[in-house]
Amino acid sequence: MNQSSLRETSDIQRMIDDVRDDLVPQIGKGVVADYIPTLANVDPSKFGISVATLSGESFSTGDADEAFSIQSISKVFAVTLALGKVGDRLWMRVGREPSGSPFNSIVQLEYENGIPRNPLINAGAIVVADIILAGHHPREAIAETLQFVRFLADDETIAIDPVVARSETETGFRNLALANYMRAHGNLTHPADTACGLYFHQCAIAMSCRQLARAGLYLSDDGRKAGMRVISSERARRINALMLTCGYYDGSGDFAYRVGLPGKSGVGGGILAIVPGVGALSVWSPGLNAHGNSLLGTRALELLAARAGWSVFRSWAGSRAPNSMQHPNQCLSS
Ligand code: DON
Repeated sequence: MNQSSLRETSDIQRMIDDVRDDLVPQIGKGVVADYIPTLANVDPSKFGISVATLSGESFSTGDADEAFSIQSISKVFAVTLALGKVGDRLWMRVGREPSGSPFNSIVQLEYENGIPRNPLINAGAIVVADIILAGHHPREAIAETLQFVRFLADDETIAIDPVVARSETETGFRNLALANYMRAHGNLTHPADTACGLYFHQCAIAMSCRQLARAGLYLSDDGRKAGMRVISSERARRINALMLTCGYYDGSGDFAYRVGLPGKSGVGGGILAIVPGVGALSVWSPGLNAHGNSLLGTRALELLAARAGWSVFRSWAGSRAPNSMQHPNQCLSS
């Protein structure tokens, strides 16, 4: 099979349609997050997949054009923004190790003097929000974060869902506790409710699978978006490393084993995954597993990655260039 037929658009469309068909009997499984009251109202039967490729194509199936609450997926965009502001000084306030604990855990903070393990758990994301807030009125920081996401997705229609933001503000006692605890350790410069205010609003950004996959493309292209540099290639590699090791909370090891792609989940049921040199994938299914990751979304990515031969752990040796799109049948027959 030559390179042009490897890239045939119908291959990817067929693959994601097949994955969806295979999982239809399981739609609705998992538990929809209800600790943020508004999220409890989301229809558990929603299911969408999108793939955005570096060649500029976009493939979707199911409910891929319906916006959902991106929740913790926003932490990837926020840490990208914060690194752009303060560079590696960010690592004086946040670690880079997997936590092995639930995303909202407070116990490690006590042992580790208010320094969160990584920027992709809640405590780390609240410090990241504190960094983005520096020198801004809170409303400006919220607008800047939203604008950055719109820029990445090339879509000015993306918005914050005010009902979700309010719901989190009214019930985010644990996040306020994390923030206050870090402030007690001198690791938060703004009042806890100000830092959490930005964090709650970024989590309440609503995006579709199609928009999310497009927004993630810069991480699959060494930090470039449509040829334009967003961040350095080194930084893009490092954000991918963080996503692989920490992006699925205490389920990150199993996710690397089963899927083998860097990414980030959210309790809204979305997952963004990156195939370096190829493109970005996004799935949405609101039912969660015990770690807070989408149950069917994880399964969909596992099937898709296996069938397409997408994994950061595979060998690229041989004739195939890293940015070539492997035909699913090659993977099955190899
Ligand atoms: O802080 C929270 O609890 C939510 N805004 C975000 C949590 C989340 O998405 C964790 N994801 N798996």
